[in-house]
Amino acid sequence: MAHDLEVSILAAGIGSRMRSNKPKVLQTLAGKPLLAYLLDVVADLKPSTVNVVIGQGADDVRAAFADIDGINWVYQAERLGTGHAMQQVVPHLNPNSRSLILLGDCPLIRLSTLERLIEVDAPLSVLTVEMDEPFNYGRIIRQGDQISRIVEEKDTTEDQKLIEEINTGVMAADTAKLIEWLSDLDNDNAQGEYLLTDIVEHANQSGCQVKGWRVDDAIEVTGINNFAQLADLERALQQRRTQELMLSGVQMMDPARVDIRGHVQTGSGVRIDVNVIFEGEVTLGDDVDIGPNCIVRDSTIESGAIIRANSIVEEASVGAGAIVGPYARLRPGADLSEDVHIGNFVEVKKSKIGKGSKANHLAYLGDATIGEGVNIGAGTITCNYDGANKYQTSIGDAAFIGTNASLVAPVTIGAGATVGAGSTITKDVDAEVLAVSRGKQVSIRNWQRPQKPTQQEK
Ligand code: UD1
Ligand code: MG
Repeated sequence: MAHDLEVSILAAGIGSRMRSNKPKVLQTLAGKPLLAYLLDVVADLKPSTVNVVIGQGADDVRAAFADIDGINWVYQAERLGTGHAMQQVVPHLNPNSRSLILLGDCPLIRLSTLERLIEVDAPLSVLTVEMDEPFNYGRIIRQGDQISRIVEEKDTTEDQKLIEEINTGVMAADTAKLIEWLSDLDNDNAQGEYLLTDIVEHANQSGCQVKGWRVDDAIEVTGINNFAQLADLERALQQRRTQELMLSGVQMMDPARVDIRGHVQTGSGVRIDVNVIFEGEVTLGDDVDIGPNCIVRDSTIESGAIIRANSIVEEASVGAGAIVGPYARLRPGADLSEDVHIGNFVEVKKSKIGKGSKANHLAYLGDATIGEGVNIGAGTITCNYDGANKYQTSIGDAAFIGTNASLVAPVTIGAGATVGAGSTITKDVDAEVLAVSRGKQVSIRNWQRPQKPTQQEK
């Protein structure tokens, strides 16, 4: 029977090469913290324990993952190296298990790769990759199949610098032996640190096999040490995601200018213009068209809907055939039915808008329920807030709200009612009536405009 699997993730570094006060593993890739990628993939391995070594910014790291159960946080008070970090985990390890060690700054590792590495039949196996530019990575020294050493950049000789096979930092080991090798580490090296990579030499000394498992895709195992590497990986990941979408039938005017910081599910015939950002969970139905410069977060856009340029759609639902924008803002709880039109400079929040209704220019619709076939004139505002409480506005089917109306909630406008332009509506309006509330227009005769003073009067 296979041994229990215990995972250890080393994540105590601040990432000094980023010159940031934020713990490195909280830096985000495609909107998600680096450590979150590892925790997600590791969960699929169903390990008996997940140990995460944290140090600088430990409270922030813990807080960021407070809603994930079953993480054993291990505190490393001083950062004395990856080997020292792993030594802190030893008291938590079961010697009869198999250990998988991951570095917190290597976010895109795939489940299948980890599974293969764990299956390698040797007391110690190391995940490696060939890099065209191996600079800064630990180099793999081999004697045939056996890995005899890993040499860190600062300890390399000129010849070793040319070795392209590098240590990804991911290792699998028999835990009892791992514990033994870890107890033998010293800090006698150019960095003056306890290096996890030195366990390879100790394994060799104790006569154990050390095998490598090589991945093909360097992106999968790129370590993030500075913002330049983070940006490179972001590009690579975005390229992978946009590629997948295009191959599934989505047209993108320029995939390099579409960012997916979450997950996008699409129907057929979808077209996406430039400078579009998707965040969270987004669903786009058939033939949806997203114009340039739009942000769409956690929303569903149904078939045939068009989001025009410069619109922001957040936690909203857009019905089939609806037209939104240009310059529209749908805030959380905006729920548009079929064929609704929301035009420029219109903001909608927590409002349900019925089939075919239109608010084409300059309006705020908040906490409202609007029926079908309603026309909302330019400048209409639902006055939903009195400084302390929010109130509802209800507008019946086929009502016509003239321009610049202030609808002071709570208020109900009946079906088929008309509200005259410029009205401030504070009382309910019955169905089918015309409600007007504004000062009467008067004409003043013999009125003189103020005159500018002449040169002499000045
Ligand atoms: C490490 C490897 C190197 C490998 C590279 C792959 C060692 C000695 N070197 O180098 O062979 O090619 O990763 O990306 O292992 N950490 C702690 N406590 C510490 C020091 C580090 O928890 O005291 C954590 C860091 O938070 C980080 C991870 O270990 O997540 C790796 O540390 P880092 O400093 O990035 O190591 P590299 O120089 O990249
Ligand atoms: Mg690193």
